Amino acid sequence: MMKKLIAFVVMALPLFAFAQKDIDQRVEEIMAKMTIEDKIGQLNQMDGRRDLEQIKKEVREGTLSSIMNIVDPAVTNELQRIAIEESPAGIPLLFARDVVHGFNTVLPIPLGQAASWDEELIEKASRNTALEATERGIRWAFAPMMDIARDARWGRIAESFGEDTYMAGRLATAVVRGYQGNSLSDQTSMAACAKHFVGYGDAEGGRDYNTTSIPPRTLRDVYLPPFKACVDEGCASIMTSFNDNDGLPSTGNRWLLTELLREQWGFEGVVVSDWGSVAGLIPHGVAYDKRDAAHQCIEAGCDVDMSSRSYLLNLKELIESGEVDMAVLDEAVRRVLRLKVALGLFEQPYARTTEKSDIYSESVLATACRLAEESVVMLKNEGEVLPLLPEKVKRVLVVGPMADAPYDQMGTWALDGDKTHTVTPIAAIREDWAKKVEIDYIPCLTHPRDRSTAEFARMQEAARKADVVVAFVGEEQMMSGEAHSLSSLDLQGAQGDMLEALAEVETPLVTVFMAGRPLTIARQVEISDAILYAWHPGTMGGKALANILFGEVSPSGKLPATFPRNVGQIPIYYNHKHTSHRAKGTEGNLDSIPREAYQSVMGHTSSYLDVAPSPLFPFGYGLSYTTFELSDIKIEKTAVTPDESIKVSVLLTNTGRREGTEVVQLYTGRKTASVTQPMKELKEFQRVTLGAGECRRVEFEVPVSRLAFHNRDMVLAVEEGKYTLTIGTDSQTGLKTYFKITK
Ligand code: BGC
Repeated sequence: MMKKLIAFVVMALPLFAFAQKDIDQRVEEIMAKMTIEDKIGQLNQMDGRRDLEQIKKEVREGTLSSIMNIVDPAVTNELQRIAIEESPAGIPLLFARDVVHGFNTVLPIPLGQAASWDEELIEKASRNTALEATERGIRWAFAPMMDIARDARWGRIAESFGEDTYMAGRLATAVVRGYQGNSLSDQTSMAACAKHFVGYGDAEGGRDYNTTSIPPRTLRDVYLPPFKACVDEGCASIMTSFNDNDGLPSTGNRWLLTELLREQWGFEGVVVSDWGSVAGLIPHGVAYDKRDAAHQCIEAGCDVDMSSRSYLLNLKELIESGEVDMAVLDEAVRRVLRLKVALGLFEQPYARTTEKSDIYSESVLATACRLAEESVVMLKNEGEVLPLLPEKVKRVLVVGPMADAPYDQMGTWALDGDKTHTVTPIAAIREDWAKKVEIDYIPCLTHPRDRSTAEFARMQEAARKADVVVAFVGEEQMMSGEAHSLSSLDLQGAQGDMLEALAEVETPLVTVFMAGRPLTIARQVEISDAILYAWHPGTMGGKALANILFGEVSPSGKLPATFPRNVGQIPIYYNHKHTSHRAKGTEGNLDSIPREAYQSVMGHTSSYLDVAPSPLFPFGYGLSYTTFELSDIKIEKTAVTPDESIKVSVLLTNTGRREGTEVVQLYTGRKTASVTQPMKELKEFQRVTLGAGECRRVEFEVPVSRLAFHNRDMVLAVEEGKYTLTIGTDSQTGLKTYFKITK
């Protein structure tokens, strides 16, 4: 039995970075020896959280190509041995997992990572994640997730990089680089998987799995570009989405998976269905049975059937009856084998061993801590209540159900995070600050949905004695993520009342949110002196927050998603289109409307009667312990051609008293085009760290081609004409200049 492996090893290519032609040749050699059953087996992916003997049987029979969710190298290695030595074709297995934001060391949820606007750090943290995961035998990660999310009711907004197309592409490609490393064949690399292709984040009503109705131009300009960016980055695989867009479920959409992805974009990697989404065509109502579903999906271009067994049970018959061409099967198998060869699985099929484990290593934790620090967004800091400098604050009361919630703070995909490694805020505050400041701690509520008010009086009493109260509120882990959508984004349980009770006491109140999404926090912003929004910050979240609260680190996060005033404003996002009846800054207020007004009280604008049209906090917003000023915007050329770049610079000055980091954001916009345009769109950004009083000229270079959109003829092109360019520290303010694109 060992012979098979030896045969492959003899043919072994140099271990690192196989040349494509060698991979192709190798795959053809393997395929030449495969039966139709062997081939169909290579398209079947199943969960590993089942009876192990049954899994072994399937591996031995050659009906499994990849297995999800086994992270014990002793088990994966044993299964791998069976695949190589005992299965008919001897092809190694590929072990897959949802490695979405960290592995053992849990990173901030992707939405939190996005708030850092720091692609280098995200890449570094993702590389660490690959080190941890590959140590457990995982070589295929189901991430990055790059669904554009403009509706915080959707629980999976937590897994996304937020609402902006350009940013999602930039950050998703950083994850791809981090996971895939310099070469897939490196044993510390994992194949990345760009998901969910496509439009999944636009689920109607924010209800997970719901229908989407994204028109062709919006699909191309808003939802597809991050995937294209990942394809260009060399992302090894793509996962289809559960939704049907305009009538077609993605997994059976030939235009999407073949014509666009492969023929137009040149993607050569593997397409995997989402969980059961091949058979999902049946409940969607476009396939009669699994046979029909398998037929549609394989022809559409979906290579791997994740967990529905539709391919396994039906492809042979479909091929023998001539309904599916053998060439279609071969092509899908070829793609899977190419990936396995590229990963070096034929040479090194077993989980990598390492002398020094990277799991929870000091450097991995330090990077996770930095990313958590950078992901924290300060939304308010009245009277500079923060930072809590020991010279002015002697006694701190810590309250709230998220102050010590080691599981919840890890966020949605914390499959491999061990909560005993989590550093919670109260643990970090005690560890680092208890010697300098007196710390009282009253959880008050046992968890975010706790409705008990029993501890309120005791808490108020303690608050009176404190110099400052820090309240940790938010959402449990399982309030966001897949299949966890909400219709209300208000704080749950008695958390809102708890904060009201604290506000009654005059002691300054700092509210820290830890949540999987933007919540509706208008009232809490009003009654708190300072607000930190920390998302679900992961393993090191507590340490990161302590560092920020006590001034070791200045906050630098910026919102990757617009914060609505109330749920009724959703969907709300900064890059909405120009309309014919543009909303004015009017405050919606029902009480101000006369009883018998027959004329529009809002002057016929695109507004609400009962709430302002503006968000509570715009995309890109976030404060620092220092202050920054932008001045002197200079554009090199006011007329550029489509193949040139726009070169523009601005002076950034740290006008405060300490070092800090600002995220300088560049937006372009135009009023008149062949089709209606967003008011403005992010086209570049830079994190800049400056010492107190320091001033630097920040330079940007934006290729004009980045301004292309699908025009009236549905052609991706740059249009001539006048554009505005704004450089700001959020999406709503900044310095403006103009330029023209000419032929
Ligand atoms: C999710 C995917 C995930 C897959 C495998 C599905 O339910 O939608 O994002 O990768 O399960 O766990």
